[in-house]
Amino acid sequence: MSTVKRVAVTGAAGQIGYSLLPMIASGGIFGPNVKVALQLLEVTPVLPALGGVRMELEDCAFPLLTEVTCSDDPKVAFKDADLCLLVGSKPRGPGMERKDLLQENGKIFIGQGRAIGEAAGPDVRVVVVGNPCNTNCLIAMHNAKGVPAARFSAMTRLDQNRAKSQLALRAGKHWSTVKNVIIWGNHSNTQYPDWHHATIDGKPAAQAINDDAWLQGPFMKTVQERGKAIIEARGKSSALSAAQAAVDHARSLYTVTTADDPAALCVISDGSYGTPEGIISGFPCTTDGKGNWQIVPGLAMNDFSKQKAAITWKELCEERDMVKDLLG
Ligand code: NAD
Ligand code: LMR
Repeated sequence: MSTVKRVAVTGAAGQIGYSLLPMIASGGIFGPNVKVALQLLEVTPVLPALGGVRMELEDCAFPLLTEVTCSDDPKVAFKDADLCLLVGSKPRGPGMERKDLLQENGKIFIGQGRAIGEAAGPDVRVVVVGNPCNTNCLIAMHNAKGVPAARFSAMTRLDQNRAKSQLALRAGKHWSTVKNVIIWGNHSNTQYPDWHHATIDGKPAAQAINDDAWLQGPFMKTVQERGKAIIEARGKSSALSAAQAAVDHARSLYTVTTADDPAALCVISDGSYGTPEGIISGFPCTTDGKGNWQIVPGLAMNDFSKQKAAITWKELCEERDMVKDLLG
């Protein structure tokens, strides 16, 4: 195993990149004892701005950062990469849904998937952040020849972090006391933030909150629409919280995660819980600390949960059908 972790980040001069790169360079993913090399990808016109980001990274003199490479060639950026964070793509603006980006952004993930298959390291993991991230991840996965599907995941950790903080605020507890919130389905406004297995300070969330109408209504809607609320408030989509979630997601792959507080990962469906097979859906996952995940088996789903999950799975099937020509 290499002693330096090679992390490729696409769209590295964008908003998320600007928050994400210092987190990675300070050990946010691999911890305080592992050196990292950053391999940054941008589109050609943005390379001068990326050069400025590189200067700033050098000026930080991060003890763990060994090297910064900048390129507009995916094969250079993904060369020997241990981890590829696929952020680069257009964000939505006011009045748009994330799936409105599919036609424009989806094709980016064909070439990048191919380049990962050709150039990345033998044990690469790929995390897709760029929206609509579930279906973009499906496209990259299908085009990355020779890379097992289980190496790919898309980011719904931001939704899980949002759900935990909303529950904590309502219960008057700290968010670190909220465990086992599940995000089923798509990183879109159909996602199902499921509190039925969650605990707050050791108590079942439904008991701690004691307001089913709030859980089924304002709680779910706030989490589902949080990205939109941020765009309306900031005029730009979330970046700081998205970068933190990307680091949380990637770190959870390289640390052990247990079923009492599973990681929210969007991964390839094997049909668990009645999910249609072959879509990239949010599931509760355990991880082994070596980059591998397992869907938590055997959780009870009541009729409400089944109905909400079916809605978001249907949307993922529709997105998959929209991009069937891009699936390699
Ligand atoms: P941004 O516009 O600030 O930055 C995107 C960067 O990607 C730009 O610098 C652009 O030049 C670059 N880029 C575009 N096409 C590229 C390509 N083919 N190769 C390499 N780089 C390319 O956007 P942002 O705010 O950083 O958001 C990036 C993406 O992340 C958006 O699609 C956004 O919707 C998504 N996002 C996802 C989540 C999530 O939870 N999954 C959260 C927040 C944002
Ligand atoms: C988010 O959830 O904040 C991001 O996916 C950005 C968006 O478009 O909502």
